Amino acid sequence: MRKLTITGVLGALLLAFSAGGANAQQPTPAQPATFATGGPATCLKCHDDAKVNPILQTPHATKGDAHSPFGQMGCESCHGASGDHVAARSNKPSVLFKGPNASPPAARNEVCLSCHQSGARMNWQGSQHANNDAACNNCHTVHVRKDPVLVKLSQAEKCFTCHAEQRSQVFRFSHHPIREGKVACSDCHNPHGSAGPKLLKELTVNETCYNCHAEKRGPLAWEHQPVRENCMNCHTPHGSNQPRLLAQRSPYLCQECHSNSGHQANPQSGQQLPGKTGFNGAISTNFRAFARGCVNCHSQIHGSNSPAGMWFTR
Ligand code: HEC
Ligand code: HEC
Ligand code: HEC
Ligand code: HEC
Ligand code: HEC
Ligand code: HEC
Ligand code: HEC
Ligand code: HEC
Ligand code: HEC
Ligand code: HEC
Repeated sequence: MRKLTITGVLGALLLAFSAGGANAQQPTPAQPATFATGGPATCLKCHDDAKVNPILQTPHATKGDAHSPFGQMGCESCHGASGDHVAARSNKPSVLFKGPNASPPAARNEVCLSCHQSGARMNWQGSQHANNDAACNNCHTVHVRKDPVLVKLSQAEKCFTCHAEQRSQVFRFSHHPIREGKVACSDCHNPHGSAGPKLLKELTVNETCYNCHAEKRGPLAWEHQPVRENCMNCHTPHGSNQPRLLAQRSPYLCQECHSNSGHQANPQSGQQLPGKTGFNGAISTNFRAFARGCVNCHSQIHGSNSPAGMWFTR
């Protein structure tokens, strides 16, 4: 029985309305949920165990902070009015975050957002996670000394519970050092919502990458257009079986856009290639160089500042 949950109260009111009519039986007025007396100490009389009490060592239990739950209604700042639960265990607290009786995600999130709506959570409403009924406590754990999702080394595990594809990606040969704990998902994403695509922290992919790879930002005397457009034209963010997080092996990568002109066609055959006279000879004699493909010569692939860098070879 959850007779004192908010929905219970609303339900009773709705029933009272729909009963309507002069002859309708007088409904018992719905009782407002009552708060327990005595604050957290009351709850801890029965709940002072390892599942619950680690919260006492977190910022949520700072009594001196008027913004914190313990500076307000204590446990009931989150679990809602629970006076009836104290009176009889068969009555559940108003808001449950876990287990088969867990409140709907929206009700749980409302509690957390009542204190955390601003800042990084500005774009929560309408975000991919909110729209898919994710709850704050799908990622956050409150009754632990240190929430694992806030720790670089353990964060990704939380995300992987739902994002299995990214788990397999970060185990590929070339990867951002996520499982090594040097880069966190939240270095690139804001899981609470974003004004950019794919929950990225910045408005574009490139702005996100420049946060750490600032040298790629330019401006450069000779820009390579696809680099300015989107790093994802050649890279993949989480992991790749090609070196350097490349989306494809080098010649094919380039040939997607440069297939029809000059020496760059079909370089692996080692055959004389149709194209500029003189240059093809250079390609053949440099055949061994193709182990690394086009970037062996076009080494400044992200653009160049050299006066003679128009071909990104220097
Ligand atoms: C007299 C002992 C006692 C007090 C006081 C008490 N509880 Fe409980 N509480 C229990 C017991 C026993 C259970 C387990 C009941 C069950 O499993 O059905 C429980 C369960 C819970 C649950 C989990 C419910 C579920 O179904 O998952 C929450 C949350 C909870 N209590 C919060 C509180 C809060 C908040 C307070 C203080 C306002 C409080 N309790 C005070 C004994 C108490
Ligand atoms: C009554 C207000 C209040 C409520 C309700 C509340 N919080 Fe907090 N929370 C705070 C305050 C105050 C802090 C400490 C200052 C800060 O980091 O903003 C905090 C800190 C945090 C932190 C950072 C913890 C750390 O170790 O740095 C997380 C994560 C968090 N809250 C998540 C939640 C979640 C999830 C919920 C809902 C289950 C929730 N909060 C409900 C007030 C609240
Ligand atoms: C998809 C996972 C996920 C969900 C869902 C989620 N969070 Fe977070 N939250 C994180 C991660 C990851 C961080 C660490 C961010 C960082 O390090 O930049 C974080 C950080 C925080 C912080 C502390 C740091 C700060 O920004 O001040 C608070 C408070 C917080 N979240 C509240 C919430 C609330 C409230 C909700 C529900 C509306 C929520 N979170 C939902 C993953 C999540
Ligand atoms: C900041 C919000 C918040 C505060 C304050 C809070 N809780 Fe919770 N409680 C949660 C969330 C979220 C969960 C789900 C498990 C988790 O995140 O650790 C939970 C789970 C529980 C459970 C179920 C435990 C389980 O693992 O099944 C009990 C019992 C409980 N809380 C009791 C309390 C008591 C007692 C207090 C006060 C001492 C309290 N809570 C304070 C948010 C809160
Ligand atoms: C409870 C399950 C769950 C957890 C945990 C979770 N996510 Fe999600 N996430 C989803 C769902 C569902 C979607 C929307 C559907 C989709 O695009 O896969 C989503 C969408 C996303 C997207 C946007 C995808 C797009 O195409 O726009 C990103 C980025 C993301 N999550 C990152 C994270 C990160 C980072 C974490 C850990 C901090 C995390 N998620 C934890 C369920 C989860
Ligand atoms: C180095 C930055 C970076 C890190 C770290 C990162 N991501 Fe991403 N993520 C991106 C970019 C960029 C995209 C968009 C890719 C695109 O547009 O093709 C993306 C896309 C996604 C998507 C949407 C699906 C897709 O492939 O388009 C999900 C889900 C996601 N990331 C989850 C995660 C999770 C979970 C983690 C942590 C394990 C994580 N990301 C770490 C940059 C990053
Ligand atoms: C939070 C910082 C951070 C952000 C943001 C970031 N990176 Fe990285 N990146 C790293 C680190 C750290 C390494 C590993 C460097 C090392 O091992 O020397 C790395 C390595 C790489 C590598 C080389 C991988 C290899 O196998 O050698 C590429 C390519 C790369 N990043 C591309 C990107 C792209 C594209 C983006 C934007 C989607 C991006 N990075 C965003 C920190 C970041
Ligand atoms: C036209 C394809 C292409 C685009 C677009 C591209 N890269 Fe690269 N990137 C490469 C290639 C090829 C390599 C490997 C170079 C090598 O092995 O010498 C590389 C290597 C890297 C490396 C590791 C070596 C180094 O130079 O530090 C980082 C980091 C990197 N790219 C970041 C980025 C970022 C950030 C963007 C977007 C601003 C981006 N790349 C856009 C092709 C591209
Ligand atoms: C997503 C498409 C795309 C990819 C992938 C790509 N490029 Fe480009 N590249 C361009 C465009 C567009 C230009 C500008 C062409 C122009 O100005 O006529 C360009 C210019 C160049 C130039 C300068 C010569 C010129 O015509 O301006 C060289 C050299 C070059 N690319 C080499 C490469 C190499 C090597 C790779 C593979 C590592 C590569 N490109 C991958 C689109 C691409
Ligand atoms: C042996 C060195 C070398 C290799 C390997 C090489 N290039 Fe070049 N490439 C050059 C030089 C030098 C130029 C300058 C133009 C000239 O001298 O004709 C050039 C010019 C270009 C141009 C601009 C002129 C044109 O023909 O359109 C593109 C695009 C290009 N290379 C792409 C590629 C691609 C793609 C590959 C790999 C499949 C590749 N290159 C492999 C040395 C090389």
